[in-house]
Amino acid sequence: MRRVLVTGGGSGIGRGIARAFAEAGDAVTITGRRPEPLQETDAGRGMTCTPTDVTDEAAVDALFAEPFDVVVANAGMGRAAPLTEVTLEEWNQTMNVNLTGTFLTFRAALRNMGQGGRLIAIASTQALKGGGRIAAYSASKHGVLGLVRSVAHEVARKQITCNAICPGFVDTPMAEAAVQSVMAGRGLDEAAALKMVVSNNPVGRLITPDEVAAAALFLASPGAAMVNGHALSLSGGEI
Ligand SMILES: NC(=O)c1ccc[n+]([C@@H]2O[C@H](COP(=O)([O-])OP(=O)(O)OC[C@H]3O[C@@H](n4cnc5c(N)ncnc54)[C@H](OP(=O)(O)O)[C@@H]3O)[C@@H](O)[C@H]2O)c1
Repeated sequence: MRRVLVTGGGSGIGRGIARAFAEAGDAVTITGRRPEPLQETDAGRGMTCTPTDVTDEAAVDALFAEPFDVVVANAGMGRAAPLTEVTLEEWNQTMNVNLTGTFLTFRAALRNMGQGGRLIAIASTQALKGGGRIAAYSASKHGVLGLVRSVAHEVARKQITCNAICPGFVDTPMAEAAVQSVMAGRGLDEAAALKMVVSNNPVGRLITPDEVAAAALFLASPGAAMVNGHALSLSGGEI
């Protein structure tokens, strides 16, 4: 049985990924700062719930007392705002959670990961392009992709792979916040704001957490052994 860790497993994409691996028969550990959402994700599936802040170096290191076979660095945050309104505190927090959190998670994972292990970062289409009102988030996700591409070189000879999944807007609380922000900023109703949020995706709808989970299952599968340092765009053709 593989041991799988999913950070930010209490909601949205992390919840979908954690449940998909549990359904596949893996032993899943989920983390996040709040314990209650972790219990809700588990809901009797036998997961291990370990509340952990990904920016806390000692706490992240402690997660890896026993090695994991698959590690999904999913925890993340972001707020839409023009650059002139981004405070230094908000910039630092975005970098700390999205980029440093992924660094701390992968570093600790690699210290005792065995042959054939898998590192997967949930980046974003914003790791592949820029966008308005999202500079801090986009910069942090570009950083994640740089980390992934370099780590892939370091681990290749150990049969470990390191890849990024780059989704467009996924139907989660984070996308809901983006819709609310568009509603407030542009005076649109919810339907019009949602249409605007998904307008970059040629398929014209939100991506589901299950679709992101399917990509993670693939990257963790034996058949993906030669996929390394890759940015898998999950965006309906947006990029
Ligand atoms: N939704 C989208 O449209 C979309 C698109 C592309 C990429 N992504 C990326 O996908 C990932 C998951 O996003 P989501 O949409 O599922 O958002 P979400 O529902 O807001 O989930 C984010 C998760 O991260 C956890 N988290 C936040 N800060 C943390 C910290 N400091 N330490 C540990 N856990 C922390 C949260 O749990 P706690 O609050 O309990 O800590 C929460 O479970 C993020 O990296 C996001 O950037 C999302």
